[in-house]
Amino acid sequence: MRLFIAIELPGEIKRKLEGMRTNIPGSRWVPGEQIHLTLAFLGEVDDATLEQLTGALAAIRSPGFSLSFSGTGCFPDRRRPRVLWIGLEPEPLLNSLASLVREAVLACNIPQEERPFSPHITLARLKLPASREAAAFLDHPPEQGLPPVDVRDFILFQSRLTPQGAVHAPVKPFAFSLP
Ligand code: 2AM
Repeated sequence: MRLFIAIELPGEIKRKLEGMRTNIPGSRWVPGEQIHLTLAFLGEVDDATLEQLTGALAAIRSPGFSLSFSGTGCFPDRRRPRVLWIGLEPEPLLNSLASLVREAVLACNIPQEERPFSPHITLARLKLPASREAAAFLDHPPEQGLPPVDVRDFILFQSRLTPQGAVHAPVKPFAFSLP
């Protein structure tokens, strides 16, 4: 199974994030229902490793926390925007959770990228060079009045690649089990 671990967002928030779409040449926008905050990307995982992984993830304890949205940004940089995202206000408990998830994944011998966790929610991927429209999205993001989101669990997702794009399905939720 091709897997990743993410924080799911309430439907109302996903609809508002989808509402940030603008007309940018060469853009592929993430379908509203698939918008998420990635904690770790795992790639293909076999059944034995999956069993070990669910045990390791179930042992993670975290207090609940609240996430507030910040401005838009892009990867890798503004001269070559490939991914457009909305950022989050710094939340140390989110970074701690991402570290715990990373350690659990590494303990199952699933390789992880070296680069530090950079919390973001991908809204669109761009296939064409930087455009006026992309710059406008970064400089003046559409205002959606996004309220903070309470987070009490994270989810192991399957991502199936299809000719129409990736299709995500929850495999298992993991509640924080600390207040
Ligand atoms: P993202 O959070 O920046 O969008 C599921 O594919 C999620 O895993 C995506 O949301 C994606 O990034 C993240 N991801 C990280 N590395 C990936 C990779 N090498 N291939 C596919 N997705 C990856």
